[in-house]
Amino acid sequence: MSALESFFNPRAVAVVGASKTAGKIGHSILRNIILSGYQGSIYPVNPKETEIEGLACYPAVSQLPAGTDVAVISIPAAGVTAVADECGRAGIKHLIVITAGFREVGRDGLELEKRLLEVCRHHGLRMLGPNCVGMMDTATPINATFAASFANKGETAFISQSGALCVAILDWSAKNGLGFSKFVSLGNKADLNEADLIEDAGGDPNTKVILCYMESVVDGARLIDVAKRTSRRKPIVIMKSGISQAGAQAASSHTGALAGSDVAYETAFRQSGIIRARTMGELFDLASAFATQPIPAGRRVAIVTNSGGPGIITSDAIETLGLRMARFTKETIDALRSGLPAEANLYNPVDVIGDANADRYRFALERVLTDENVDSCITLLSPTAVLDAVAVSDIIIAARASHRDKPMVAAYMGGAKVEEGAARLTANGIPCYDFPEPAIGALAGLSRYGEHLKVPADEPMLTYGDVDRAAVASIFQEVRNDRRVVLLGSEASGVASAYRIPNATTVLARTPEAAVKLAEQVGYPVVLKVASPEILHKTDVGGVKIKLATAEAVRQGFIDILDAVTRYLPNARIYGIEVQPMMPQGTELIIGMSRDLQFGPLIMFGLGGIYVNLLKDVSFRLAEGLTRREILDMLGETKAVTLLRGFRGETPRDTGAIIEAVGRVAQLVRDFPQITELDINPLFSYERGLSALDVKITIS
Ligand code: COA
Repeated sequence: MSALESFFNPRAVAVVGASKTAGKIGHSILRNIILSGYQGSIYPVNPKETEIEGLACYPAVSQLPAGTDVAVISIPAAGVTAVADECGRAGIKHLIVITAGFREVGRDGLELEKRLLEVCRHHGLRMLGPNCVGMMDTATPINATFAASFANKGETAFISQSGALCVAILDWSAKNGLGFSKFVSLGNKADLNEADLIEDAGGDPNTKVILCYMESVVDGARLIDVAKRTSRRKPIVIMKSGISQAGAQAASSHTGALAGSDVAYETAFRQSGIIRARTMGELFDLASAFATQPIPAGRRVAIVTNSGGPGIITSDAIETLGLRMARFTKETIDALRSGLPAEANLYNPVDVIGDANADRYRFALERVLTDENVDSCITLLSPTAVLDAVAVSDIIIAARASHRDKPMVAAYMGGAKVEEGAARLTANGIPCYDFPEPAIGALAGLSRYGEHLKVPADEPMLTYGDVDRAAVASIFQEVRNDRRVVLLGSEASGVASAYRIPNATTVLARTPEAAVKLAEQVGYPVVLKVASPEILHKTDVGGVKIKLATAEAVRQGFIDILDAVTRYLPNARIYGIEVQPMMPQGTELIIGMSRDLQFGPLIMFGLGGIYVNLLKDVSFRLAEGLTRREILDMLGETKAVTLLRGFRGETPRDTGAIIEAVGRVAQLVRDFPQITELDINPLFSYERGLSALDVKITIS
């Protein structure tokens, strides 16, 4: 049984602040509970009244009969904490605090909210809000909100951070025939938050689809955990608004700059199987598709249309949104040829042409739906004088019954002429849109979810047992002892080596003679680089010399670098000169990490070199739980993958080594939360193996 079972289906409900005065929120809530048909006991609480709306009124919470599971509180903010305490003492389990004037109004409000939460925690009360509209459950049924109406019964749970949006959506849904299982306004999320409600909806037998509108996440790790489990059972569609500036930290690294502020949400949602809607329109387009359609077996879409233009628009949308145009079997094409006019297009899109009547649609739909190369189907209709849109709708509805495994959507373009036909479809569980793009958007959502379900749930996180954590910890300690946060190249190279990330060994020389000695050890030719955490762009200040092949060149190089750097930056703290073997040229890649406050370390992979920020050919994943398959997907999302496969006759690169390097970097940043930023750029990828040339690490 869900922890919130008695919250949504209480034995008795109290309304604290219930009022006789029409227009007061405490009046609306009481009336809504009564009118919703709620079967449990309803207890108004108000010290001034003995009866409200025909119900006996209690002067205080302490006087309530036993067995009250939920108290809805609608009294001014100053009195809420005391009432919550009374509720706790009276054995009430859940609170719905409608009252505003908490965290959202500033520091005093935040203090008040903290005290309220402490009281809830003390009594083990779970609280929705404060500052919310309340909740509805159409199965119970109960409407414990002050919204103007009750939701229609349906299989969609809607969870919203915005109360205003809740009431607006409710009104809109009534007009558009969308029903809900649960309707929850989260408010300030002091206690119950999106993860709790998603988890509950996941276990609710009346809920098929979970929709969520959110502006922020309370606990990123928990949301991911809950969503990963829940999305295996039902689709979760989330519209996230508000680009969080706190998301990715202000960054000096390439990865930080490229991660931007929204990438963490995008990545977290994708990795946990959440379908992300970009607009409110898309959220509900997806909702109606998920609520009524099966999940397609693949991405191949068939189009049946009576006009060319919309067919092309739809084909474009299919390509753009990552779906594929179905290629019919020969049998389908032969069958279509036998029944359609000579002018008709037999290949996808099937154009039954402008003079088509409903029968022609029936014929074409039946043929394409039986084709094994078709995973889903969209019917397009433009109103003509010879076509009865309602008759076409009935044909689609009948086809649905005999092809239950293939999603079917429609786009009826027009207005008054198609209205009745569109309404017939919607009422019979076929989503009908005004234009093709949202219809294809909905099919794309179904298909993305289908692909998520195919990924095995139990894939292990990639981990390596041969890493040397102690070595890394000791390097970090030295850096801290030196009162630095940026590691020198030699230190970063040491960290990489400890985690067996192949790198061009970098060692620090403090004198020209020491540099020569080290050059002989690592082998000529070598590279010299100035070692100073204060110099980010070493080449710009003459701080790098490459291809030094003799002792004399190394000696001279050492002196020249020091001369140049002290001339440009006389005050820079210089630790010496780093000596590194000159590595053969490889394909230049980047692996990086930036840390998101909510979702933890984000790993970036892409094309490296000096044009990283310009090309932006990168992809991201959360380091937490990162699997081999996800790393492979990451590679596949970049254009770099074309180079890695061997572009224009080049030999392919060692993808296995890249996957391992990404996996090891992810483990490093998971093991050491003090790493705030990390860039390996360039990382030379070879036919066999790879080498990190420049490793930059910043710690907190
Ligand atoms: N126990 C029981 N009843 C109490 C009480 C208590 N401790 N304290 C007050 N009451 C009664 C009042 O006497 C009043 O009853 P009455 O109408 O018979 O006089 C009733 O509760 C309401 O109190 P009142 O002082 O009239 O407040 P209000 O109704 O004007 O405002 C809120 C209360 C909660 C609606 C208001 O403070 C508020 O927060 N409004 C914004 C709500 C909102 O927007 N929420 C977020 C949506 S997204």
